[in-house]
Amino acid sequence: MHQVNAPLERNDRIAEETYLMRVAASEIAGSVLPGQFVMVRLAGTDAPLIGRALAVYDVVADAEGTPKWIDLVYLRKGTFTTSLAAATLGTSVTLWGPLGNGFSNRPCDHLIMASGGIGQTPMLLLGREALGTQAFGAPARENGWAKRVEFIYGARRAGLLAGVDDFRKSVSEVTLCTDDGSAGQSKLVPDLLAERLAGISSDETVRVATCGPEIMMEKVAQVCEAAKIDCQVSMETPMACGIGICFSCVAQVRQEGPMEWDYKRTCVEGPIFDSHQICW
Ligand SMILES: Cc1cc2nc3c(=O)[nH]c(=O)nc-3n(C[C@H](O)[C@H](O)[C@H](O)COP(=O)(O)OP(=O)(O)OC[C@H]3O[C@@H](n4cnc5c(N)ncnc54)[C@H](O)[C@@H]3O)c2cc1C
Ligand code: FES
Repeated sequence: MHQVNAPLERNDRIAEETYLMRVAASEIAGSVLPGQFVMVRLAGTDAPLIGRALAVYDVVADAEGTPKWIDLVYLRKGTFTTSLAAATLGTSVTLWGPLGNGFSNRPCDHLIMASGGIGQTPMLLLGREALGTQAFGAPARENGWAKRVEFIYGARRAGLLAGVDDFRKSVSEVTLCTDDGSAGQSKLVPDLLAERLAGISSDETVRVATCGPEIMMEKVAQVCEAAKIDCQVSMETPMACGIGICFSCVAQVRQEGPMEWDYKRTCVEGPIFDSHQICW
């Protein structure tokens, strides 16, 4: 884990209530795995006192091709993200990471990433790694482990969809949906996923990765279970320390043995879990 103090080099509104921030953090950029996160604080302020977890959205290289910057995408919601959205370029932020386990790179023919709300943020790196266009980790772990990557992305309305062009450039196919039909199909992410899975040949090995509101992930997990498809979820339980000390982030996770389930710390044993492990 690395701790970095760095000035904000970008902090742009990229969609309704949604911002992209960029900081130079070469140690994190050079070692992060898809699905890992960083804890972030605004330096020199106690409000809020504890950091917030943000998934690493993108890794940007310098002119020599060395990973140098990380981009984080956040929804303006409460105390921290409101202060961050108001911060000017040059404001110093403190980050520590990369944290958590990251998504698996188990090979498959077809990876479907299903996101809702601000749950697109851990998926860009995963899609690029799966198709072999970018490698992540130190040493870099195997990439190019899927033949096709699809992204299903839903939001309440069109204005909240953020980063769609990044995904269009990075994966095989993007399908959008909104609750009010203002962009893409007027459907919910789990229903769209169920339709897609029904249309995929049974000869193909399919994997699903999902992130978003818990109720959406639970339904995605049910769809995958019914179709007997491997699904990983990225849990977003609130965190305080991010490094396994405070136990504020626990999720109820099924396990083998006499104790059918136990509390697992999302920050170290997650945030990525196989969906059948989660006691929703
Ligand atoms: C592994 C992981 C990755 C994550 N990745 C991202 C990401 O990439 N992008 C992202 O945007 N978020 C991400 N999150 C969520 C993020 O960590 C924060 O929880 C989120 O940004 C909200 O923080 P905040 O300080 O702005 O809101 P908080 O102030 O913590 O508020 C959170 C919610 O509580 C409500 N609230 C706050 N105070 C009160 C009150 N007094 N009474 C009633 N309601 C209240 C707010 O309205 C809001 O809905 C991630 C979380 C995890 C665990
Ligand atoms: S956030 Fe402290 S143990 Fe997970």
